[in-house]
Amino acid sequence: MVQRLTVLGLESSCDDTAAAVVRQRDGAGAEVLSSVVFGQTDLHSAFGGVVPEIAARAHAEKLDTCVLQALESAGMTLDDVDAVAVTAGPGLIGGVMSGVMCAKGISAATGLPLIGVNHLAGHALTPRMTDGIAFPYLMLLVSGGHCQYLIAHGPEKFTRLGGTIDDAPGEAFDKTARLLGLPQPGGPSVEAEARKGDPKRFRFPRPLLDRPDCDLSFSGLKTALMRMRDQIAAEKGGLTRQDRADLCAGFQQAVVDTLAEKTRRAIDLYLQQSPPDPVIAVAGGVAANSAIRSALETVAAENGARFTAPPLRFCTDNAAMIAYAGIERFRTGARDGLDLAARPRWPLDQTSPAMLGSGKKGAKA
Ligand code: KG4
Ligand code: ZN
Repeated sequence: MVQRLTVLGLESSCDDTAAAVVRQRDGAGAEVLSSVVFGQTDLHSAFGGVVPEIAARAHAEKLDTCVLQALESAGMTLDDVDAVAVTAGPGLIGGVMSGVMCAKGISAATGLPLIGVNHLAGHALTPRMTDGIAFPYLMLLVSGGHCQYLIAHGPEKFTRLGGTIDDAPGEAFDKTARLLGLPQPGGPSVEAEARKGDPKRFRFPRPLLDRPDCDLSFSGLKTALMRMRDQIAAEKGGLTRQDRADLCAGFQQAVVDTLAEKTRRAIDLYLQQSPPDPVIAVAGGVAANSAIRSALETVAAENGARFTAPPLRFCTDNAAMIAYAGIERFRTGARDGLDLAARPRWPLDQTSPAMLGSGKKGAKA
């Protein structure tokens, strides 16, 4: 009988300290035995963004408790796991180092194999963990720090078709919320306002649609929003609730239209590879947005592709995806030594040119 691997995963590349235990299933997919996430939102809320030093210190303080909780809720000890996987980049370097040091400590003390995982590979492989999706599939990563189209060919083989050249979409939602005095995180509050608004009243740009590629840009949307907001304020002395809702609706519609059109182009490129069972998967916090989700679902259906989105708790930053990516690497025979390096930058597709933008959470790709 083939041994079903059980891996402990650690994640600390941004503002979530996370640990999880994941076990490979017979056939495809994996079972998440535990997934613990300690968010740091409160620690950073006064600063309008993630403060790297505060994040790194909080990770270092919380990681061991997080690991203990993950093992306990899986009903296991370190004796029951086959390896320890850790995010080794890309991300905020202090946080990544905290996780890597913790994993090295566990590995050195127990003799467990150590596996360094690319955080983006963790996101990109999640549909395999949750739904057993077969390679090759098309992946759209959309969060506060990431935005890219990838074809996933294998556990460590990805082709990047395009991505944002400046802000990530979640970052644009967060900035929009800030400009309109709505609570953070901005995505859910802007979406809620947008439901009450008229998307046609304000005309937002559809950035980069004049370019035939899959690259995106979102930073112009916030500038447009700021101008519209200031103009209303100058004309009427302030914004009504309806003005705010209409601005949110117009902004969100621009994001939806842009993502839908660029997804059409990405699907075209993906289908050129004749995948036997075409699938488009989406992951990242922005995948929670129902307008974006349904637009992507429609585009997938129009092109004869299946659409899948992992449950939200595995779309946002978590350690189950890192443990799972660790299982996939382990199965290829990959092992890392105690010299495993923490990397602030680590593009998934080494062959495509570096992206210009960095995203609010540090350079991701
Ligand atoms: O994946 P995630 O938890 O963290 C990283 O950025 O890595 O994504 C968080 C981002 C935030 O920018 C948040 O505003 C956005 O996802 N988000 C949304 C929604 N829910 C969360 N954006 C649009 N609509 C939503 N409903
Ligand atoms: Zn992430």
